[in-house]
Amino acid sequence: MSVSSSSSSSSSSSSVVVFTCLLIICLITLHITMCVAKPKNTTRSPRQLSIDYYAKVCPQLEQLVGSVTSQQFKEEPVSGPATIRLFFHDCFVEGCDASILISSKPGSKMLAEKDAEDNRDLRGEGFETIRKAKALVESRCPGVVSCADILAIAARDYVHLAGGPYYQVKKGRWDGRRSMASSVASNIPRANSTVDQLLKLFSSKGLTLEDLVVLSGAHTMGFAHCDNFVSRLYDYHGTKQPDPAIDPRLLKELRMSCPHSGGNTDIVAPFDVTTPFLFDHAYYGNLASKLGLLASDQALFLDPRTKPLVQTLAKDKHNFFQAFAEAMEKMGSIGVKRGRKHGEKRKDCSMHIS
Ligand code: HEM
Repeated sequence: MSVSSSSSSSSSSSSVVVFTCLLIICLITLHITMCVAKPKNTTRSPRQLSIDYYAKVCPQLEQLVGSVTSQQFKEEPVSGPATIRLFFHDCFVEGCDASILISSKPGSKMLAEKDAEDNRDLRGEGFETIRKAKALVESRCPGVVSCADILAIAARDYVHLAGGPYYQVKKGRWDGRRSMASSVASNIPRANSTVDQLLKLFSSKGLTLEDLVVLSGAHTMGFAHCDNFVSRLYDYHGTKQPDPAIDPRLLKELRMSCPHSGGNTDIVAPFDVTTPFLFDHAYYGNLASKLGLLASDQALFLDPRTKPLVQTLAKDKHNFFQAFAEAMEKMGSIGVKRGRKHGEKRKDCSMHIS
């Protein structure tokens, strides 16, 4: 009995020890969890973007931009492809900082990005979308939302309005203090760029071969001017022959719109002959059928490094949509600026603050 009692008392005291140890372990774990969890919620690395960045200062931001993009898409559907391309041209030069929206100072020799040769065919409808959205946002949330974030949201809106994926846009970009036409040429790909050149450029922005193929899928929408592909129609690489990688029927149609020389420079052809305003995965199927419009598009099917991914995406719209949303987030994080030291929050997106 005494043994049993002593054993029971020793077992109860050992239970207390075990319990106390467990409690201490729990408390330590809880403390560690709290210590680890706390910075996650309150601190951000300087360049990190977040979905709820404007939650306190402009909670209705996405609805405000959305009301402009949906109206514009109804009235001027070309605003969709125009804005998606504008976002791309913004991010690739100086990072996603709305430097593309700055107007050159009248009389100044230093032109802004917008006026560079490689940006001359960016449509006005993209700039107009951002101007309208910014004016509305400023009327409700003055001085807090960057033009760069509005551009990122508007591009996503148009992808979705045109039937593409909806994805959350991370925000917190500041607007850039610098916009120089001279920075554009080396950072924007050309219609006749080779896959090697494209891969090199994309990789310099932290983007992969997969990102290149997936983001090029934006060419499922919109139009290109004849001068971007006319050499493919008549004199490919000085052969006096058309590019053998163009479908003969497409070749005939494109030749009707785009004469060898002296044609109307305003004429454009759709990237996707059947659904130029729809965001779908037709782009990839078109490449497989020799219906790519630019040499740089068709090259993605001709190059053995990129062809397998083109074939995969041609088969699977869901896969493309998911990959596109992820790649847009990645592209939207290029060269992001944070804070007053590196950036500004413009009131008028076309003018620096000072
Ligand atoms: C991969 C290299 C790329 C090249 C060489 C390229 C080149 C071009 C060219 C030459 C045009 C026609 C411009 C015109 O004549 O008006 C164009 C249009 C367009 N690009 Fe790209 N682009 C590339 C990547 C991208 C990316 C990554 C995006 C977006 C994520 C994009 C979105 C667009 C859109 C939506 C249009 C149609 C614009 C409109 O109709 O207003 N492009 N691109």
